[in-house]
Amino acid sequence: MREADLRGRRVLDVGCGTGRLARALAERDAAKVWGVDASPEMLAAARVPRGVRLKHARAEALPFRDGWFERVVFWLSAHLVDRAVAFAEARRVLVADGRIAVVTFDESHFTTHWLNRFFPSMERIDRARFPTREQLAGELPGAHFVRISQTARFTREEALERVHCGHISTFDLLDPDELRQGTARAERELPDQIESPVELLVAVTGTM
Ligand SMILES: C[S@@+](CC[C@H](N)C(=O)[O-])C[C@H]1O[C@@H](n2cnc3c(N)ncnc32)[C@H](O)[C@@H]1O
Repeated sequence: MREADLRGRRVLDVGCGTGRLARALAERDAAKVWGVDASPEMLAAARVPRGVRLKHARAEALPFRDGWFERVVFWLSAHLVDRAVAFAEARRVLVADGRIAVVTFDESHFTTHWLNRFFPSMERIDRARFPTREQLAGELPGAHFVRISQTARFTREEALERVHCGHISTFDLLDPDELRQGTARAERELPDQIESPVELLVAVTGTM
């Protein structure tokens, strides 16, 4: 995510979950990182190095003073927040030349997702809940967009664990029959190794 220019910066990770990004930014990019998340359970499970500060807070009411951060990152959390309010809050806590970086799924991601074949409604549900590039362009005027294509590789056991524990919140939105039938089908049909494209869309403000 070169465009976001995070190295050594004062960064706020909004919707930090278990601290995956906060950890990487602190360890790999020597950033000074704060994270907030609305879920006490996620924060309790978070593992971050000393120096990374995590707080229980919502994106829509950030407990920080104006102009404190150089970067605010929403990594796979922008679809869960009230974006008009959360982006206004992000701008408030940023310095004048600060940047907001939103990392979300590109629309193409939903077409090729490895779970579609077991849970046919997933694509429709996710398309409706994740922001499109056009929506983000309207919400973050002047944002620069980049697509990042990756490949996820995991074993049948790892895939089944993801299905059984409902690792993405879309599982909570599935019809119980579809969930039951899709899980049984995944148990029968998943191959030993799974490879699936991961198509990310990154929007960064203030790069010009
Ligand atoms: C899909 S997870 C992504 C977590 C992390 N960014 C990552 O990529 O591993 C989304 C996170 O956003 C958090 N979240 C949802 N609504 C939120 C809100 N209004 N304010 C702050 N965090 C929120 C959830 O609790 C969850 O931890």
